[in-house]
Amino acid sequence: MACGTGQWTVELARHATTVTAVDAAPEALAICRQRAGAAHVQLVEADLFTWRPPERYDFVFFSAWLSHVPPQRFAAFWALVADCLTPDGRVFVIDELPAVAAVERPAAAQPVPAVHREVAGGQVFRAVKVLYAPDELQGRLDALGWKADIRTVGWRYFSTSLRRRRRSTC
Ligand SMILES: C[S@@+](CC[C@H](N)C(=O)[O-])C[C@H]1O[C@@H](n2cnc3c(N)ncnc32)[C@H](O)[C@@H]1O
Repeated sequence: MACGTGQWTVELARHATTVTAVDAAPEALAICRQRAGAAHVQLVEADLFTWRPPERYDFVFFSAWLSHVPPQRFAAFWALVADCLTPDGRVFVIDELPAVAAVERPAAAQPVPAVHREVAGGQVFRAVKVLYAPDELQGRLDALGWKADIRTVGWRYFSTSLRRRRRSTC
């Protein structure tokens, strides 16, 4: 999900029989195609807040995406992730820790946590950027029925493997 320029898609494609990589930006997908284009890699241009999975997958991966999901859409987004998965499917997430705020430019008085980002040429954009502490994220995921094993990687990153908690049948 939100494959961007495909730095991870190319790695996933080494291990998977088929990969479906979704992103909203055609420019990013064009680079992803150059990097990871192969018969078993399908690139889909779509908005993940409206996209519906055409099938179920064994594995869902996203990096540097969860922090761009507005808090108001958190639960609906994780419902989409659940809809993407086979019953034994797994999820793996990489994102940034709150300490990264020190190297961002927080945007004041926004309806959601956001930062300013300057691109080549000097244009400045706002980006949603929600930095979860591992305990807070664990609590939110737990409340939605996910079993998450969150690990920090240095000061900047965390990764977590997740699966749906099985519902009791009695
Ligand atoms: C920070 S980049 C991460 C790219 C990639 N996952 C990586 O780790 O290199 C965030 C990506 O989210 C994509 N994106 C933003 N809003 C989106 C949306 N509503 N639906 C799908 N992709 C979106 C952007 O186009 C961008 O490629």
